[in-house]
Amino acid sequence: MKDSSGNQRPTVSRRAARFDSSGIRRVFELIRTLEDPINLSIGQPDFAMPEAARNAAHDAMMSGKNGYTVTQGIPELRSRISSDVQKQIGHNDRAFCITSGTSGALVLALMAIIDPGDEVIIFEPAFVMYRPLIEFLGGHCVAIDLSPTFEIDVDAVTSYIGPKTRAVLLNSPNNPTGKVVSSETLEQLAEVTDKHHVTLISDELYRGFCYDHPFTSAATFSKNSVILDGFSKSHAMTGWRVGYMHGPPDIIDACITLQQYTFVCSPQAGQWAALAAADCDMTESFDTCRKKRDRLVEGLRGHYDFTHPDGAFYLYPKAPGGSAEQFAERAVREEQLLIVAGTVFGSADSHFRISYTVSDTMLERGIEALIRLADKH
Ligand SMILES: Cc1ncc(COP(=O)(O)O)c(C=O)c1O
Repeated sequence: MKDSSGNQRPTVSRRAARFDSSGIRRVFELIRTLEDPINLSIGQPDFAMPEAARNAAHDAMMSGKNGYTVTQGIPELRSRISSDVQKQIGHNDRAFCITSGTSGALVLALMAIIDPGDEVIIFEPAFVMYRPLIEFLGGHCVAIDLSPTFEIDVDAVTSYIGPKTRAVLLNSPNNPTGKVVSSETLEQLAEVTDKHHVTLISDELYRGFCYDHPFTSAATFSKNSVILDGFSKSHAMTGWRVGYMHGPPDIIDACITLQQYTFVCSPQAGQWAALAAADCDMTESFDTCRKKRDRLVEGLRGHYDFTHPDGAFYLYPKAPGGSAEQFAERAVREEQLLIVAGTVFGSADSHFRISYTVSDTMLERGIEALIRLADKH
């Protein structure tokens, strides 16, 4: 587009133009050309959304509950989540907001907490949205590379906290490594962030998928923490866009105001579905995921180098040959196998993500293909 003086005007902002999704689009194009792919790249559960939740969404729609809700979410769901959180963390001096997916909570938390020039400490590999969102807002990511152990060293975190640090953004159980931060580390991290008046933002979306020990929330240790959570993964409701956040009232109030001017509210039928979902026991689904985790770990042991994944539904092995990108390309070419190269989650081109929430048949095909790829190397 040209202005009146004939100068070229950009049609999209520099912010938007900076992000390059051509790699992801290329993968989608590639998937379409494959006849019978082994797809271990998708980050969503393969079990069904509970029937009671589907019925509740249907009933909500049919009874005319299709309009906006109050910005912070329907009172029934907020009060249900609030009492569940109180049981979980043992105190309830927190404010709540229902958001448009956990992504919505993440956007609002970052908007509420950081100003341009502020720093946020993240741990790489990290969920794909963290860095772009912080940078969208003019913030700087201070990335701590956790490979190859994927353990957090709290002393190292402390050494990165400076005058511009506003938040530490944590995700446990983790996408993509499957690691769960121990409650000792979490407690130390909470102490350090509280001491330096830095907000600990804890993305606990995969909390139901914690296989080897009970899950502990960051809110147990820090009243100042902001917790991001949601129904997408635990209740297989990724498309319904229901997440929530809780934290200190001043931050959550700011998030509610920001939601009013952005997302408006989480979709109403989804909120009623989530209220019904909160009553559904998902233990069996989580147990099935744990069995898939065990099968994958057992199948790849001795063929790949990886740390034990105690949560979420991902395994993050080292790529044979060194480059994860080259390995992911080889997996598609030689085995029609789709996995995600670690460069999507950070700068290190060393590991790749396997998502194991697939049918048992698909998982077995995946294990066989991965073994062939490792052996051929
Ligand atoms: C760590 C993490 N946080 C947040 C999200 C976003 O979740 P939602 O679909 O509820 O927005 C995801 C989705 O994959 C995730 O893996």
